[in-house]
Amino acid sequence: MKALEIRDVSFRYPIGKDFVLKNISFCVDHGEFLAVVGANGGGKTTLCNILRGFIPEFQNGCDFSGEVLINGRKISDYSSGDLAREVGFVFQNPFIQISGVKKTVFEEIAFGLENLGTPKEEMRKSVTDIIELLRIGDLKDKHPAELSGGQRQRVALASVLVMNPDILIIDEPTSQLDPQGTQEIFDIIRIMKEQNKTIILVEHKIDLISEYADRVILLNDKGILIDDTVDAVLSDKILLNNGVPMPEIAEVADMYLQLKEKKTDRLPVNMEQGIRFFRDSMGEVS
Ligand SMILES: Nc1ncnc2c1ncn2[C@@H]1O[C@H](COP(=O)(O)OP(=O)(O)OP(=O)(O)O)[C@@H](O)[C@H]1O
Ligand SMILES: [Mg+2]
Repeated sequence: MKALEIRDVSFRYPIGKDFVLKNISFCVDHGEFLAVVGANGGGKTTLCNILRGFIPEFQNGCDFSGEVLINGRKISDYSSGDLAREVGFVFQNPFIQISGVKKTVFEEIAFGLENLGTPKEEMRKSVTDIIELLRIGDLKDKHPAELSGGQRQRVALASVLVMNPDILIIDEPTSQLDPQGTQEIFDIIRIMKEQNKTIILVEHKIDLISEYADRVILLNDKGILIDDTVDAVLSDKILLNNGVPMPEIAEVADMYLQLKEKKTDRLPVNMEQGIRFFRDSMGEVS
């Protein structure tokens, strides 16, 4: 059984002229890490909202067809509490995620567990553990309104991870973060992968995807353009025509090949492959 299955989904917003998603189908295995890339406005956030059951539920008057299954069960058959236990969703905009009704970050992170009626002691332990894992102890007594964008992004992630869902849908978790903050979030995502979580991540920072994801989907307004392994998608120049950069190492290798008037079957997409590529290429030259 797949963790997630999306079957022939098409969607148009009530006020939209065109369909944002057209005939989208794909599956995600348990423990798989899928990255979704595409130009701005390509429908990535809309797709995330479908995968968490928010669309079409809260979009009156939209056009929706197709089916979404979570662990083999139709998403529409889940109660909101059951779905929250299975699927954790981190918003693109951390300013939306924070509830605004709690006085401290600690209480804010506990909010979801509180809604599920988790016993107090268990809740306290889970929140303390996640604060330690994300190294945000310095924020725990702050008022959520005092947080910077980057701090909010960390707290938003904590408030989802604390529920311990098996499936994580994460929409651009590092948009507000500097390089160090971005690396910290990816360190946490790596830990989630090691814990065998199923991860669907929307991210523009392609070099990070190349290091961590298993598979990549390229989405545009026509549908899914490619759905393949990280190595296959990130070395494909089709990305460049769709508002997505290639990994830096692929661009450097491509430039080198053009200078040398050579060709390769596949460009390197991460550091390890890059080192091998240049070692082999330079070996040939000397
Ligand atoms: N609530 C809405 N009502 C009508 N149209 C919407 C709504 N939300 C998004 N859209 C439109 O749907 C399309 C896809 O938007 P979406 O936010 O899903 O794209 P995205 O790939 O996440 O973009 P980005 O990379 O900028 O986050 C866009 O053309 C957008 O204008
Ligand atoms: Mg988006």
